[in-house]
Amino acid sequence: GGFDIADEALADSVREGLARVEQLLRESVRSDFEFATRTSLHLVDAGGKRFRPLFTLLAAQFGDPDAEAVIKSAAVVEMIHLATLYHDDVMDEATMRRGATSANARWDNSVAILTGDFLFARASRLIADLGSEAVRQMARTFEALVTGQMRETVGFGRNEEAVEFYLTVIYEKTGSLIATAGRFGAWFSGVDEATIDSLERVGRILGTGFQISDDIIDIASPADESGKTPGTDLREGVRTLPMLYALADEDTSPRLRELLAGPLTVDAEVDEALELLRASNGLARTRATLDEFADDARKELASLPDVPAREALWMLVDYVVARTR
Ligand code: FPP
Ligand code: MG
Ligand code: MG
Repeated sequence: GGFDIADEALADSVREGLARVEQLLRESVRSDFEFATRTSLHLVDAGGKRFRPLFTLLAAQFGDPDAEAVIKSAAVVEMIHLATLYHDDVMDEATMRRGATSANARWDNSVAILTGDFLFARASRLIADLGSEAVRQMARTFEALVTGQMRETVGFGRNEEAVEFYLTVIYEKTGSLIATAGRFGAWFSGVDEATIDSLERVGRILGTGFQISDDIIDIASPADESGKTPGTDLREGVRTLPMLYALADEDTSPRLRELLAGPLTVDAEVDEALELLRASNGLARTRATLDEFADDARKELASLPDVPAREALWMLVDYVVARTR
């Protein structure tokens, strides 16, 4: 299932905005060095949901959504996101992304890493047009993305609680950029500070929930639905919420505990772990946690002015939950 906007005028405005973002994205990765353009367009062309630009454009509906800076900031956010995906697929040794071959698999790790850096360079150029406060905001966000990814890589320490650690990581690696997507949309549409802060909070909650749904998908969704290889987190030894909850549940079988103890390299073991996790209380409890995040996002939305975009954001919250079912 996709995401549809009921209000026609709003749907038209968002569609137009997304088309402008798309055009700017493509222009922004063009280089005299054609190879860099080609490797950058690889993931741009692979499609993707454009979830972050969509959220920026919806947040901008509380003010002037057609402002040039709104479009620019949406493109910047998507370019930063794309850059992190190139790097993430190297770190996760992923071979598939958005239903296409990942850049590291199509070329190699060096090309994938450098393409991420190239995108970051071009995004930096674009954001300079938005002023120093925007650059500062993006620098903070970038730092959160990197520290989240670093935390995930090294795992939690002896004095850290696993679920709390997980929530910190997913806020940093995913929630932070979606929060900034909301902040930028509101800010550059010209609304007041309280509305900007509120849409940033919506993004933070929605973005963190988005990563929880991503972690459910890694376990529950077949590749032909998700465009990614299921069980990647298990293979990489990344402990996601369904696994943590399964480990905390006394009814979880010794076999699943054994499988969750280490990174899994054998396909048959990954498949077995996936099957056990799908039936576990851990997955069910994770869905319940996702529902709580959705409720919190709806509470935050309720404080915003009653414009059609608020209804659409409500639907976006539903979509983040529904995409895992
Ligand atoms: C995807 O998570 C990864 C992220 C959301 C953040 C990645 C951040 C970096 C790589 C920081 C460094 C970036 C740059 C440009 C210096 P996932 O692996 O759980 O999601 P997936 O299922 O989509 O692969
Ligand atoms: Mg990954
Ligand atoms: Mg990863």
